[in-house]
Amino acid sequence: MICSLKPIGLLCEYSINPLGLETTTPRFSWKALNTIRKCSQSAFQIIISSSESTLSADEGDIWDSGKVESSQSVNVEYKGIPAKSGSRCWWKVKIWDNKGRESLFSDAAWFEFGLLNSKEWIGTWIGESSHVYGVSPLFRKDFCLNKEIKRARAYICGIGYYELYLNGDKVGDHVLDPGWTDYNKRVLYVTYDVGGILIKGDNAIGVMLGEGWYGHTHDSFIKYMGSQPSWNNTPRFILQLNIEFEDGSITKILSDNISGWKVCKGPIIQNSIYDGEKYDARLEKLGWNSPNYFEKIANHEVINWEDVVKVERPNGVIESQVMEPIKVVEDIIPTSMTQPFKGIYVFDMGKNFAGWVRLELNGLIGTETQMKYAEVLNEDGTVNQSNLRGAKATDTYIFCGKEQEVYEPRFTYHGFRYVQLEGLVDVSQIRNIIGRVVRSSVAKVGEFSCSNELLNQIHASIQQTESSNLHSVPTDCPQRDERMAWLNDMTVRAEESLYNFDLANLYTKWMKDVIDTQDEELGSVADTAPYFYCGKIAGHISSSVIVVPWLLYLFYGDRRILEQNYKSMKSYLDFLKNQSDDYIIRENYCGDWAPPKTESMIGDCWDAMPANIPHQVITTCYFYYDATIMEKIARELKKHSDEMEFNKLSGLIKDAFNKRFFDTATCNYSTGSQACNLFPLYLGMVSDDYKSRLLKNLVEDIEQKHEVHLTTGNQTTKYLLEVLSREGLHDLAFKLATQTTYPSWGYMIANGATTIWERWENLTENGMNSHNHPMNGTQGAWFYKYLAGIFYEEIGAGFEKFIIKPYIPNGLNNVQAVIETIRGKIFSEWKKDTLTFNMEIEIPFNCTAEIYIPKLEGNSNYGVKEGGILIWTKEMKYTSDEDIVFLRNESKYVVFEVGSGFYNFCIVSF
Ligand code: BGC
Repeated sequence: MICSLKPIGLLCEYSINPLGLETTTPRFSWKALNTIRKCSQSAFQIIISSSESTLSADEGDIWDSGKVESSQSVNVEYKGIPAKSGSRCWWKVKIWDNKGRESLFSDAAWFEFGLLNSKEWIGTWIGESSHVYGVSPLFRKDFCLNKEIKRARAYICGIGYYELYLNGDKVGDHVLDPGWTDYNKRVLYVTYDVGGILIKGDNAIGVMLGEGWYGHTHDSFIKYMGSQPSWNNTPRFILQLNIEFEDGSITKILSDNISGWKVCKGPIIQNSIYDGEKYDARLEKLGWNSPNYFEKIANHEVINWEDVVKVERPNGVIESQVMEPIKVVEDIIPTSMTQPFKGIYVFDMGKNFAGWVRLELNGLIGTETQMKYAEVLNEDGTVNQSNLRGAKATDTYIFCGKEQEVYEPRFTYHGFRYVQLEGLVDVSQIRNIIGRVVRSSVAKVGEFSCSNELLNQIHASIQQTESSNLHSVPTDCPQRDERMAWLNDMTVRAEESLYNFDLANLYTKWMKDVIDTQDEELGSVADTAPYFYCGKIAGHISSSVIVVPWLLYLFYGDRRILEQNYKSMKSYLDFLKNQSDDYIIRENYCGDWAPPKTESMIGDCWDAMPANIPHQVITTCYFYYDATIMEKIARELKKHSDEMEFNKLSGLIKDAFNKRFFDTATCNYSTGSQACNLFPLYLGMVSDDYKSRLLKNLVEDIEQKHEVHLTTGNQTTKYLLEVLSREGLHDLAFKLATQTTYPSWGYMIANGATTIWERWENLTENGMNSHNHPMNGTQGAWFYKYLAGIFYEEIGAGFEKFIIKPYIPNGLNNVQAVIETIRGKIFSEWKKDTLTFNMEIEIPFNCTAEIYIPKLEGNSNYGVKEGGILIWTKEMKYTSDEDIVFLRNESKYVVFEVGSGFYNFCIVSF
């Protein structure tokens, strides 16, 4: 029995102690310390019990797996007795290592099922008899519990957004809840443990509702789509409190129109995701969500509270929200304040982000202050909201005249760096102002830094951009009248985001949103999910249908996501096939969207259509890419005839594509632009006979024609640095990555960017120029993969097997990166000077990695040390250490295999 083996970091469905599980076969993952080298798991035992005490007595009354000979420590499936709604199960796990040593049991963890059958919702959907758009209703109900409470759960689905209160306090810390879905297809409910809040005696429930996306109407939709979204309706909710008393009896408190629920208009008199919130503090109803409120207020106030009405339930099925809720994840303090004009105060929050501000202030009753949010400033120092297009992004607060008032909005959010306060007489009225950073509360898992400050700033901006665009779906931008989850952006952005954040649950949910848009007959998907606009049948670059589940498999070893989506992915590929003539995609869409303006068609679509690459090059390349990934997925799922079919298909696409677009005389694809040549190169579509000339053309285009600048759009920029590094042109990739003149990421930073822009130009006028757009930060994956060298592998998904192979450009002396993977922390750091090259590596328990030690240039006499001991030289030929296995001596690297543990490699010359 060894202590350091004891499993830690227990996860069920990627969460610590999840409440309200939707699946009846949850999956378990665990880690162990990696203090022992080359330590892996040979067996495990899971015990699941109905109580903590039975678990500590090692009684698996729900499931005792017994000793299972298996190395699987990620996503092990539940095989216990059938799941029971609302039941909490306690679990622990112990493991045996590769030397047969047995661990202690882990500490106890738990998971709890949600309401597994929609019939268990016995309450009614309720709302107001007449809703005024934007005015947030307050619902309340008193109830008395006359016994001691053992356990209580609140299940609530309130759309667009809800806040739940019990006995005067807000329940939980979620904001902008529940997550956005196509409400015609599914709606999400949330589970809270409220056992500690309810009391024996008088209790009260309060529910405040906002429009959210459900009620969202906006002039912009008429402008862009010609109508409002089809699922628009007034705010409504269903709620159920399941209460168990100490004596074993049960009671349920429900939303309905018969048991005394009342509704009244609240102090939020306008709320809109795009436009902001207006709050009249004079209309606050102090104590409305506490017990016996009506007995404490005057009669003329009581009559404002009307009976609730039963309303139609949304068409979508009701499902538990398993992904991480949106929360306030950080508070930030403004870096400066200016007063461009009398009575106008502009606060600089120091960085662009998504959220709002919280104010402590005072003012005369009935006077108001406005908070105008923006990403950029006008020349006169006031906020410039032009690039927000139709979004007004303004919160308004009307004072009730108290000595100190506190305000922050609830049912809106903004993408901003600056906030301008207007309407105040004097700045001393503002006691405090803080920025509230709001996003899906997923964990940040990646960190990167190096000896080049610009790269560090670019990396930080990419993370900041991702962080601003995770709001229950991966949005394109957080500020203007859009904020959609574009599939084409996600095709290229997903990998970067997975290196930076834990997105297993959020992307699993978003894949449902994507499949919800699929046309059952055609197999097509929409271009935004949940579908809002533009194309219900998207163009042919919506490959995220296939790319995202595949990446989830690679990052988390998640086979289930492949199984669940296989049919849909396959029918999307069929759709593409039907849209092709001789394997060349027939239709066009936005192609390699929004390259530098110098490369685009001016005058059309905000100058975002590329002029340097035909759409069909892009769409057909993605068709090929999709077919190759489907082949791998079919192999993984052991669907052999499909695998062969996809293999054949990709071969046919490749031949047709080369025939149509490749010019053997010039060795260029189509126009010979960077995108035209690099994408087929990335995908391996180029025959070996032409590869080096094609690469030469690409390099010439970058270096000579464009003086080391990119010309690519949003669908190919991601692959540019990767192709160059992979093909031995890492120095050129590094120069592009650190370029500071237009168009480049460095140009954005030089112009004050703290998040990545949508356009390569520094635009601030009305139009399509968000300053916080993940689609141009997709090279973020290159930092981890090529500079730090951390590559996931197809064989050994979920980082069971991976590679550390840093590419060392001239001009960089040090790189450091960490990724907290599903199996534990991977750390890679290298430092070089003229004579030595040092690598510090950390490999998690139960993982194997191939480590590539770069050789010193121009030196033929060298050796590799580990922990100060010489373990390899050319002369020694082969030294096999217990923990470190020499694999091969390549032209640029010496390659070893290691297991878990800490390693310090050093290449030295003699
Ligand atoms: C979105 C982009 C998207 C594009 C596609 C834009 O409005 O912001 O992120 O790629 O439309 O047409």
